[in-house]
Amino acid sequence: MASEQIKGRPTTIKGEITLPGDKSISHRAAIFGSLADGTTKVKGFLKSEDTFSTLKAMQMLGAETSWEDDILYINGCGLHGLKEPGDIIDAGNSGTTSRLLMGLLSAQSFSSSITGDKYLRKRPMARVIKPLSLMGANIEAVDDSRLPVTIIGSKLTGISYKMPVASAQVKSSILLAGLYAQGETEVIEPMHTRDHTEKMMQYMGIDISVKGKSIKISRSDGFNAADMYVPSDFSTAAFFIVAALINHGSEILIKNVGVNPYRTGALEILLQMGADIELSNKRELNGEPVTDIIAKSSSLRGIEIGGDMIPKAIDELPIIAVAACFAEGTTTIKEARELRVKETDRIETTVTELSKLGANIKETEDGMIIEGADELNGAKCSSLGDHRIAMSTAIAATRAKGNTIIEDSDAVAVSFPEFFEMLRQIRKGINEKTSDNSN
Ligand code: S3P
Repeated sequence: MASEQIKGRPTTIKGEITLPGDKSISHRAAIFGSLADGTTKVKGFLKSEDTFSTLKAMQMLGAETSWEDDILYINGCGLHGLKEPGDIIDAGNSGTTSRLLMGLLSAQSFSSSITGDKYLRKRPMARVIKPLSLMGANIEAVDDSRLPVTIIGSKLTGISYKMPVASAQVKSSILLAGLYAQGETEVIEPMHTRDHTEKMMQYMGIDISVKGKSIKISRSDGFNAADMYVPSDFSTAAFFIVAALINHGSEILIKNVGVNPYRTGALEILLQMGADIELSNKRELNGEPVTDIIAKSSSLRGIEIGGDMIPKAIDELPIIAVAACFAEGTTTIKEARELRVKETDRIETTVTELSKLGANIKETEDGMIIEGADELNGAKCSSLGDHRIAMSTAIAATRAKGNTIIEDSDAVAVSFPEFFEMLRQIRKGINEKTSDNSN
């Protein structure tokens, strides 16, 4: 099992960095590029375990892919041209792969099966199986709700579905099925969630209507390929933003970051906590807003976080908890029960790992309560198999007294294989690669 050491000595975080592509948009680029007629050119596709799970699945379904330098080419099969996969599709650790593909595969004329790693096999799938079954899908799952699943391709009919949970994966799964269903399919969200699927459908010329929290789609005959640009992942940027905020004398510039408003709750939260963050050079690329972000050391203060801010910051709540460890006063995260069904139970795993570093953090049923302090202490920690727990703990450890070991550190490969290398570079204030791995 790989482990990483973070040396707890005072450092400043300095540099100008460009981070890898957005994970959510890369998944969708792989899917829509494969469903298009013609060749899609994708610039900035995230090279990580999760996104490769989707790309491999689409290859098994008939898409042909190739790389030229860092550009991914996808030869699409056409919306109605997928073929039966020769083997079980392995979604690995990726909830997005498994849930979006369940919607897509429910509507095909062939059968298929999806499995995942030991973490994904524990995660709830009833949230997609239920609405897809209402559309006429035939999905057999372990305990009716877990992977592996077998999907017997069926003719689907559109439904109007009020989602009980705010989940972009559920919404996207239903919309993908809706591309094949007879009649109209409507999804009504309880709160806004990331709308990358809707934006990509609009960009590809698919007829989709979005009015407030209602999204409607009808059966499509197909659509043409279009070049795509994947901006850097805001969820990855959040780790380095917080690293700069909590380390004295720091300033970091992160270029080309995707700032979809349903993804950037963490920005709003950190600004409310008193963070010195500036956005510049705002522009739009294939319908997605993109900007450069400058973050500087800041005096943070505790706040209360809940309500519709939760889905907009869902993946960033562990790193927000790290920021809260160094804020003055109390931070309360509430109404965030969804954290319990992520790659790990992130209420439990965030509290467990930050407690090891001496943080004053308590678990509640739907969130956590954190009392800020000046410093943490180095300790032996673990990713617990969760990429975002590994990265959050590593950032907290940059402000700890003494060294921290993070076991099972290669969990970061799910979304950002080069995370530790990048952290070493900015802790030294230089950008060039270095053979000296000591922090
Ligand atoms: C994602 C949606 C969110 C998020 C996940 C990626 C997506 O999950 O946590 O990391 O790409 O649609 P939920 O839909 O379960 O909230």
